[in-house]
Amino acid sequence: MVDFGVGILGTGKYLPDKILTNGDLEKMVDTSDEWIVRRTGMKKRHLLDDNTPSYMMGAEAARLAIEDASLTPMDIDLIIVSTETPDYLTPSMSCLIQKDINAENAAAFDVNAACTGFVYALTIARQFIQTGYYNHILIVANEGLSRIVDWESRNTCVLFGDAAGAVVLGKVDKEYGIRESYLASFGNLGHNLTIPCCYISEEDRQKRGAGKERVIWQDGSEVFTFAVRSMAECVKTVVEKANITIEDVDLIIPHQANLRIINGAAKRLGVEDDKISVILQETGNISSASVPVALDMENKKGRLKKGDTVVLVAFGGGLTCGSILLTWGK
Ligand code: ACO
Repeated sequence: MVDFGVGILGTGKYLPDKILTNGDLEKMVDTSDEWIVRRTGMKKRHLLDDNTPSYMMGAEAARLAIEDASLTPMDIDLIIVSTETPDYLTPSMSCLIQKDINAENAAAFDVNAACTGFVYALTIARQFIQTGYYNHILIVANEGLSRIVDWESRNTCVLFGDAAGAVVLGKVDKEYGIRESYLASFGNLGHNLTIPCCYISEEDRQKRGAGKERVIWQDGSEVFTFAVRSMAECVKTVVEKANITIEDVDLIIPHQANLRIINGAAKRLGVEDDKISVILQETGNISSASVPVALDMENKKGRLKKGDTVVLVAFGGGLTCGSILLTWGK
């Protein structure tokens, strides 16, 4: 039995300066501000410019998280990057960030659990610290979704944005930190949300059209149904595992894919709106960066108090879902 907790020591985020509003999208595809707000809750999203590699966002978020943890890059033992939009298949995003921030003592690898990737990465990192193998782990969720969006398809292009969020994980007093986590995958539902890479099937081609083989495609209503059900189940599972009730939870930080998904899950759980962090009106869907970017916003505006019970929850491609319950101890 270990006599310490594993908790978040620092948070950071990066959102590109360039902003795409619903009004801008009205000029690009057959859509309206009214439709986007009513069906998704989104108002704007941040986009990388074409000449900037996506990992630069992660490096910036990482620097801020390390500073917030009062550490230096040389203190980091391992970097895990969650991404479904890597700049290269190799080198990994984690190696690109390691080089950029000069984290010379760190091992580095990427994970891909789509939008659930940050919850997966945090759960992996926790094990390394619990066993005593590492002391400080940097986790970055780095997503450049604008690079894989079909900008002529109103079904998807209104939904996504670019961003990176980061945390540093380390030892904390034993009454704080991560208490429970839950991960699940449903490969049998994976065909509902796809981004082809090194292999393109005939089905992939037909769904997208010529010249657009590598754009994101989803069956929106199938993913929607999965999302509402799985987010509620994931929250319930960690709450039960921690032997507490939903009323004991101070803040839920969910993946930000659609306000109607968040509201649907909240209704199933019987949770009031003021206990849920919502940032998608400013960011759109930023995949696995949603949770750490929202976490950083809540941390920096002082909404998280020492001792608060916080649940992080996400779903996404794979299909995957997962949750983490922690006691805020920063
Ligand atoms: N503007 C105007 N009309 C639109 C737009 C748009 N941007 N997009 C779709 N429509 C139209 C459709 O063509 C359809 O018209 P029709 O009735 O004439 O055929 C109508 O609006 C309704 O379309 P639906 O697809 O039924 O709209 P819905 O209310 O389901 O919203 C949405 C679509 C927003 C995609 C929703 O299904 C959703 O959020 N699904 C979940 C998406 C998600 O969470 N994805 C996870 C991605 S995670 C990752 O790994 C990146």
